[in-house]
Amino acid sequence: MTRRHAPPTTCPPAGGASRKPIGVFDSGIGGLTVFDAIARRMPAEDLVYFGDTAHVPYGTKSPDAVGRYSSEVARHLDGVGIKALVVACNTASAVALPKVRRSTHVPVIGVILPGARAAAAASGSGSIGIIGTEATISSGAYTRAVGGLRPGARVTGAACPLFVPLVEEGWWDHPVTETVARHYLGPMKRAGVDSLILGCTHYPLLRGVVGRVMGKGVTLIDSAAATAVEIRALLRRIGLERTDGKGRHRFIVSDGPERFRRLARRLIGRDVEVRCHRFDL
Ligand code: DGL
Repeated sequence: MTRRHAPPTTCPPAGGASRKPIGVFDSGIGGLTVFDAIARRMPAEDLVYFGDTAHVPYGTKSPDAVGRYSSEVARHLDGVGIKALVVACNTASAVALPKVRRSTHVPVIGVILPGARAAAAASGSGSIGIIGTEATISSGAYTRAVGGLRPGARVTGAACPLFVPLVEEGWWDHPVTETVARHYLGPMKRAGVDSLILGCTHYPLLRGVVGRVMGKGVTLIDSAAATAVEIRALLRRIGLERTDGKGRHRFIVSDGPERFRRLARRLIGRDVEVRCHRFDL
């Protein structure tokens, strides 16, 4: 496939382009943590969120499948008309970013590099932990990114597959979640990490439990917040940041808008209108 998007630094500020929305894409509901972080930091921006709820979870699928689904979503958002795309899903960012970039004309940001950058800066000892889905951890994407930014860093990764359903069940601070967290985070504690990347869209909601299990000396890195900082910097750099007025928010899913609406209320604390766009995959 040919490369169709222009690199961010050469993208001209076309007339009216700054009024287009930022696209935010996730496999499902969890990317709302990233959406929320962007909306808080950039209240004037219009945002369009796409949750690929027909194909969630991505975290247990092959890179090939995640690549196909992600490209389809990127093409759809490109057609909707966006000025930049944030791949909020850690799994898609880890295994499918090049494919996403080839599927859209706009600059694309994933969550891996912002999270890795924040961790590399926060760690005193260079011992950094990363938790995520099976696909994210086995891709090694965070380990490579941290290693590139901070040579000599020791990275310990662990997949925590039960965290996603526990968050969607609303068990953010539940004894069962704490038991599961103690089990998953044992290797991190033994490795003596001083920073831990919450490398999955859902995990910022488990900050309380994870923080308690890891203890006070460990800094929790939220890729969502780091990504919001990065997208604002990018839009400023290319002259497409919007700072006037109040942004509008749109939500699209590929299946089950009712369930999305219900979970969104729990995650971002408000009622949202959701449109359904089905893919013919
Ligand atoms: N959004 C995914 C991620 O951040 C978690 C849910 C899934 O497995 O699709 O990796």
